[in-house]
Amino acid sequence: MTFVGQGGCIIAQRKMTEDDNLVRYRTPSVVSYYVAATQLQPAERELFDKHLQPNISILDIGVGGGRTTPYLAELSNHYVGIDYSEEMVGACRARYRSQRFELCDASNLTIFADETFDAVIFSFNGLDYLGPEARSRCFSEVARVLADDGTFIFSSHNARLLAVAPVLRGVGPLRGFLRLGRAGVRTLQTATRTIRTGAYGAAEGYVRDPIHGGLWTYTSTPQTLEPQLSVAGLKVVDALSAGMPAPKPTWLTPWFYYACTRIPRHSRVSDPMP
Ligand SMILES: C[S@@+](CC[C@H](N)C(=O)[O-])C[C@H]1O[C@@H](n2cnc3c(N)ncnc32)[C@H](O)[C@@H]1O
Repeated sequence: MTFVGQGGCIIAQRKMTEDDNLVRYRTPSVVSYYVAATQLQPAERELFDKHLQPNISILDIGVGGGRTTPYLAELSNHYVGIDYSEEMVGACRARYRSQRFELCDASNLTIFADETFDAVIFSFNGLDYLGPEARSRCFSEVARVLADDGTFIFSSHNARLLAVAPVLRGVGPLRGFLRLGRAGVRTLQTATRTIRTGAYGAAEGYVRDPIHGGLWTYTSTPQTLEPQLSVAGLKVVDALSAGMPAPKPTWLTPWFYYACTRIPRHSRVSDPMP
């Protein structure tokens, strides 16, 4: 994060942390942004329809303004939405009075017993706002609260994103021209960010996403996430580009949606004896 002194000179550079993300997610305008979101994303709908059966218990992590609540609560016989932002939880409680929402951090799910849920969802890249240790604790906690063969669906930003495509469908020539220009600028910013931070080369890493005034954001690829999930006992069974139903090439895919299954506890091979 850059601090600017009098006269506009840069006086300090401070590394962003996960604490900055929580400040953003507690900001009223950001809460309103997520309360206003209503639609499921195409890749999300595809994975929900394919991997979630009716009458299951569902934990909705990073529930935000409750965008996914109507769809998931209707499918579920036991639905709980959690978020670490008090303001997001308050907005959900006011909006869906008959549903349960708790203030809870994704990396510490101790309010839930082992094997409580058939499915855990962490939608719209919420996972990417955790630091490295918190992310690995979150995977272990998700695996702990999931029943054997349970499903974990989440998304994560693509570390190999290089370009931003303009949406030109249904717009006139002038607006189309403006959108093309804006996409050009954003492409330059995106490619510079992923390459300069080393995230592109390493296929993972943290970048500063300018959204909501700046979020410290993890980016990854299916290849870098699979081993992290596997350590926790989670196996990737589906990975879709956020561009579904028209899949995009990797360099144009802003994030990937993943469906994982909880490897049954008794079938995990223990480490060989020394
Ligand atoms: C990009 S928003 C998505 C909100 C909602 N899931 C949606 O799809 O509209 C990410 C959400 O994850 C929450 N979040 C981020 N880190 C979290 C953590 N460590 N524990 C719980 N919630 C977290 C944020 O407060 C925010 O509400």
